[in-house]
Amino acid sequence: MASKIKVKIRSFGEDAMGAFKVAKQRLHNILHASEKDIEEDPITEKARTLHRGLIKAKVTQIEKDGEHASKITFSAPCPLYFSAGQYLTVSLKLGDKVATRPYSITSSPAQGKEGIVSILVKEKADEPFFSRYLNRDLKVGDELFLEVGLGDLTLNPIRDKAEILGVAGGVGIAPFLSMAKAINESAESPFHLTVLYGSRKQTDILASKEIASLESERVHFINVLSEEPDYPGEKGFITASLIQKYCDVTKVSFFLCGPHVMEEFVLKELSTLGVDIRHVRSECPASLPLPKTDAKTYLLKVHRGIELLELKAREDEPLIIALERAGIYVHSCCRSGKCGACRVEVINGEFEENENDARRFYDVAYRYAYSCHAYPRSDMEIRIPIESFPA
Ligand code: FES
Repeated sequence: MASKIKVKIRSFGEDAMGAFKVAKQRLHNILHASEKDIEEDPITEKARTLHRGLIKAKVTQIEKDGEHASKITFSAPCPLYFSAGQYLTVSLKLGDKVATRPYSITSSPAQGKEGIVSILVKEKADEPFFSRYLNRDLKVGDELFLEVGLGDLTLNPIRDKAEILGVAGGVGIAPFLSMAKAINESAESPFHLTVLYGSRKQTDILASKEIASLESERVHFINVLSEEPDYPGEKGFITASLIQKYCDVTKVSFFLCGPHVMEEFVLKELSTLGVDIRHVRSECPASLPLPKTDAKTYLLKVHRGIELLELKAREDEPLIIALERAGIYVHSCCRSGKCGACRVEVINGEFEENENDARRFYDVAYRYAYSCHAYPRSDMEIRIPIESFPA
């Protein structure tokens, strides 16, 4: 039976009187307000709990995974909130220099609530300093700063299909470990995850024991080796026909994480299968060019607050590396030209963004460069925004 709603439409005079009463009530409230500070707005308090910014965390475990990779576990004094598939940043102070790098989280969100988080680190040829330090010099008990819960390579039951096909390469297996744990830990999770994990040889497979332990009714990992012809499992590259062997492309959501070259290859294969690649979720960092022996250097003038600093910047290195080398901190998250955290205002000079310039319209229009992705092409003058100052 339809219910009736009582609506009373006031006359203009009544309405104006109402406004007068409101103003009078407000004045009364102000005059009789308590002198005590207003308590924190609960929404702001919640947001601060979920997005804590930099958190000091202690290294509690380092497990070597071959010579060039390690799983590092941190413990923080508070819950760490993140979704399976997200990444964190590690900030490291060496001497008077602070640098930050992103690493995908391998642990589950449930472990995060206990203040525990793990990452997989592999030394990279194009980024020799930071990852090598974590892999070789870091010790249990060391304290570092983490920013947790970044990136959008996450499973979303509203957006994604229940069947997920992940394609991983190298250290890109990390977010799928976290997703696999989250799926296995929750009976309510609607997702089934199949991951095609590309490596050159068996010795290059990372986290192999963990992968084996995660195999379940709803989680499957398939190794695909490109340089081991005698391997009894899948061999070669992750091609369209291999993808079709493991899924019905019309019934899955695709997630990619790995080297940029793998991303380009797999996206082409997917497009031959009629997959709309705009719907493929991918987190594949652009690789940095290897240093040139005859690289040009340019003068970089840097405004930071009231300071004006001058330094040299190489044409073959992103601006952020030149700034970090000179001890100038710039906030960064993804380090692959997507999030915009490292933006700097370009006052003068020319620069080139690495391939796939993903800057926002506003940033292009007002000449902001994403310093993790921008290379100098002349002498330059830049300004570091206030939000990039060290906390
Ligand atoms: S750190 Fe994300 S764009 Fe540079």
